[in-house]
Amino acid sequence: MVFPASGADLAKDPLFKAADAALGGVLSSIARDEGFDGKAGQVLNVHTHGRIPARRIVVLGGGAKGDFGNPSIRDMTATVAQAANKAGTANVAFVMPSFGATREAALLQHAVEGVYLGTYKFGRYLTGEEHKKPTALKSFGLISDWAGKVKKVTVTQQKAFDAAVSRGTIVAAAINHARDLINEPADAVTPAALAADAQALAKKHKDSIKVTVLDAKKCAELGMGMFLAVGRGSDHEPRFIHITYTPPKKAKKKVCFIGKGITFDSGGYSLKPSQSMEDMKVDMSGAAAVISAMDAIATLGSPNEIHAVAACCENMVSGRAYKLGDVLTSMDGTTVEINNTDAEGRLTLGDAITYARTKIQPDEMFDFATLTGACMVALGPYTAGVMSDHESLVKSWLAVAERTGEDMWRLPLNSRLREQLKSSIADMRNTGDRFGGAITAGLFLKTFAKDTPWVHVDIAGPASLTSSRPAQPKGGTGYAVASIVEYATRGS
Ligand code: BES
Ligand code: MN
Ligand code: ZN
Repeated sequence: MVFPASGADLAKDPLFKAADAALGGVLSSIARDEGFDGKAGQVLNVHTHGRIPARRIVVLGGGAKGDFGNPSIRDMTATVAQAANKAGTANVAFVMPSFGATREAALLQHAVEGVYLGTYKFGRYLTGEEHKKPTALKSFGLISDWAGKVKKVTVTQQKAFDAAVSRGTIVAAAINHARDLINEPADAVTPAALAADAQALAKKHKDSIKVTVLDAKKCAELGMGMFLAVGRGSDHEPRFIHITYTPPKKAKKKVCFIGKGITFDSGGYSLKPSQSMEDMKVDMSGAAAVISAMDAIATLGSPNEIHAVAACCENMVSGRAYKLGDVLTSMDGTTVEINNTDAEGRLTLGDAITYARTKIQPDEMFDFATLTGACMVALGPYTAGVMSDHESLVKSWLAVAERTGEDMWRLPLNSRLREQLKSSIADMRNTGDRFGGAITAGLFLKTFAKDTPWVHVDIAGPASLTSSRPAQPKGGTGYAVASIVEYATRGS
C-alpha cells in the first residue's frame, strides 16, 4: 500500500495518522529514525509484519505544500509502478491524496497515466531472456477515502471517476504509441510506414476517421516544391498524410494539427556532424504526436472537426538531393533560396501549412516540430517553445499545456528578425544567422500561415530525452500528445 503524505505537518496528515494508528505508532517512530518528514522525493518503505493485510506501506514525500498537482501525481504513480516492477511486486494499492476535492477526476486521470507512462519500455530489439519475462506488476489499485472519512459518492461522481480512469488509459496508450514510432529506427519508420500507421486508424475508427495519403506525384500536382525537394535525396518516397475526424453532430469548429515528419535528418549537403546526427530518427516526433493523438481523439470523441496533417520524408545526401543555392517554389508560390539544407523542417512544414490553410481552411491550426537546436539553447531540453501572434489562441493552448503538465513557454515572433531571411534572388531564404534561430524558423512558417489563427510549437528539446524522468523513460517521450488530445476533446 502506497500513499503520499504532505510535508507541511506530517503528524497532521490524515493518511499518515491513520496508517500510523493501524500500525500502533510504528510508522511515526520509523519516520523519526529515518529522518522522513514528507519532503518531495523522500520515500519511507515499511514492512507491516502482518499487522495489516498489506505487506508493505510506502509513504511518498508530497513536498512542503502537500500540493499534489496533476504532473506530480503522475510522477508519483510512475515511480511507484517502476519500483513495483523492480521489486517483483504484483499488486499495488495507491491511496489518492486529495480525493474528494474538485479536481479529483483530473488527478485520477493523471494517476492512471503515470502507471502506463512510467512502465513504458521499448524492448523490441532486446534479445536477452530477462527482457522476455512479463513485468511483475499486475494490478494497480487507486483508492479513495482510506482515512475513513466516509463521503457518499454520487452516481454522477462515480461516472466522472470511471471516465477519468478510461481517459487516462486512452491518453497514455496514445503517448506510448507515439514513443514506439519515435524509438523505432528510421529504416523501420519510413514515410510509407507512418502512412500505414495512419491508415490503420481509418480501419479502427470506421465511422469517424478518414485518411488520405498523397504520394510524390500527387504532391507535385499540388505544387509542393519545398516538401518534395527535401525528400528528393532519399530512396524512401515521401508521403503526405491527412487524417480527418468528423464528429457525430455538426462540428463546432475545425482544428488542424500539423506534425513535422522527417523520418531521418542527416542534414543533407549541410551535413550534420556524426554526434548531432545520432538521434535524428526522432525528427518525426511531431508527426508521431499528431497521428497518435487522432486515435485517442476518435476514441474519446470531440465536438470539433479535427484534422491531422504530416508531410513525411527523409533528408538525405545523394546525386538527386537538393543543394545549397537551389531556389524552390512553395505550394503558395513563394520562392525560397536554400542556404542550409539542414533547415529542412520549415520547408516541409511550410507546404503542409499551405495545404492546411487552403484545402482544409481550419478555424485554428497548430504545428508541432523538432525544429531548431536554438530552441533548446533558449529554453533547455525539457520545455517546448510556443510562437504565435494570435493572442487568444495561444493563451488557450498554454492553459491546456499547463493542465496536462507539458512544459511550454512562449517566445516572441519579433518581426525585426525577418531581415535575416532576406534573399537577393528569391522571395526569401530558408535560414537566418545564429541569433534568434528558433524565432526566425517561426517567422519563416508564419509566411505560409498568413491570417489563419496559428500556433507553432517547437518540441526539439522535449521530444526525446537522454536521461529518464519518472513518467518519461529515456528516448521518445510522446510530447504534445496529451495537450493535443486535451485541446481537441475539451478545449480550454
Ligand atoms: N531536426 C533539426 C533540429 C533538432 C536539433 C531537433 C536537435 C532535435 C534535436 C532541424 O532540422 C535542424 O537541423 N535545425 C537546424 C537549423 C539551422 C540549420 C538553422 C539547427 O537547429 O541547427
Ligand atoms: Mn535539419
Ligand atoms: Zn530536422
